[in-house]
Amino acid sequence: MDHFLYRNGVLHAEDVPVPEIAAAVGTPFYLYSTATLTRHFRLFDEGLGEMPHLVCYAMKANSNQAVLKLLGDLGAGIDVVSGGEYARAKAAGIPGEKIVFSGVGKTREEMRQALEGGVRQINLESEPEMRALSEVAAAMGVTVPVTVRVNPDVDAKTHEKIATGKKENKFGIPISRASEVYAEAARLPGLEVVGIDVHIGSQLTELQPFRDAYSLVASLTKQLRAEGHEIRRLDLGGGLGIPYERSNTAPPLPVEYCGVIREVLGDLGCEVEIEPGRLIAGNAGILVSKVIWVKHGDDRDFLILDSAMNDLIRPSMYSSYHEIVPVMEPEPGVEHRPYDIVGPVCESGDTFAKDRPMPPLSEGELVAFRSAGAYGAVMSSEYNSRPLVPEVLVKGDDFAVIRARPTFDDIISRDIVPEWL
Ligand code: LLP
Repeated sequence: MDHFLYRNGVLHAEDVPVPEIAAAVGTPFYLYSTATLTRHFRLFDEGLGEMPHLVCYAMKANSNQAVLKLLGDLGAGIDVVSGGEYARAKAAGIPGEKIVFSGVGKTREEMRQALEGGVRQINLESEPEMRALSEVAAAMGVTVPVTVRVNPDVDAKTHEKIATGKKENKFGIPISRASEVYAEAARLPGLEVVGIDVHIGSQLTELQPFRDAYSLVASLTKQLRAEGHEIRRLDLGGGLGIPYERSNTAPPLPVEYCGVIREVLGDLGCEVEIEPGRLIAGNAGILVSKVIWVKHGDDRDFLILDSAMNDLIRPSMYSSYHEIVPVMEPEPGVEHRPYDIVGPVCESGDTFAKDRPMPPLSEGELVAFRSAGAYGAVMSSEYNSRPLVPEVLVKGDDFAVIRARPTFDDIISRDIVPEWL
């Protein structure tokens, strides 16, 4: 459920009519709902119930300061994967003890940054990284809580580009080698082993892969404890999918996912961390765009929008489906015709949908891409010198621009022409 609904034939974001925001901000723009963000965070937080836990929002999904502040105020921890994300989290007021640092290639500079600013734990992904962190921490005279990310070789049954838990993926250390890696971690100065980390992929639409991976983590917890490690924290990653396409069966609910965690890991006496990104932000955002032209081609019709692959790259990159709806609700029973829905960028890959049945639309009309709150704005670029689109946050009948559209001058002034040219 989200808070983008038609009222009196007009799409609203909470209590604000979308055309009102479009008139104030111009198109295209991303539009987020505080109520949906809040609701989704709480579904996880309440779903884990009495089990000691911290929901660490994976900010890679949507890293706007306002979104981080909103979730931080609700009590969220944050999962970061770069020095930039760490700095953003701190700037939004997230305390170091609620920041988990993940990622397969952390540099020594990033390690230092996290140790200086404070960090809840660093999730290690390889032995070289583990040794480097030990050196950095020891040189700074500190001890840092760590987990080791294990790769359980479980098929997440998702798009190959976002599956991370198979042995051929670059992530984590093979679970079969955990014993020796943990033994080394325990010997190294500057590291305090606190738990185990796992993340098998994103947009998972079934619970079984989670169950399989978490069962392996449960066995590993017992094994490592028997080997003398104090395993008290389990970071279970993110990955729960969202319903992008209404006609498909909906993925499991957060409450069901949390049920698996409680069932498989509940008796270990560990604190759990989860790192949902998409489920919190995905359906809390839409991308609003305008029809520039309706073009009748030889064998198909094109809806040419003012948003493009640089604004929302998911359809080009993963062939992913986003529902695209007119902002003015079509009359019931109106005839739908197939369109290729495209952007103005100069490549054929700049296609959002092919043969998508749409009600009649003409120049200047607004459409909204649903489920665009996660991995939308954060993956956008200025390809074709198209300014990054603004982001707007709605709360009840209030709305505010939370990232402004840069001007052409802003864009151009980032370049530096050398004096000798
Ligand atoms: N934790 C780790 C270590 C991750 O790598 C990820 C996502 C998450 C948590 C959050 O996963 P989520 O709950 O959002 O599924 N750009 C792609 C998705 C990439 C996900 C990368 N890692 C997309 O647009 O589908």
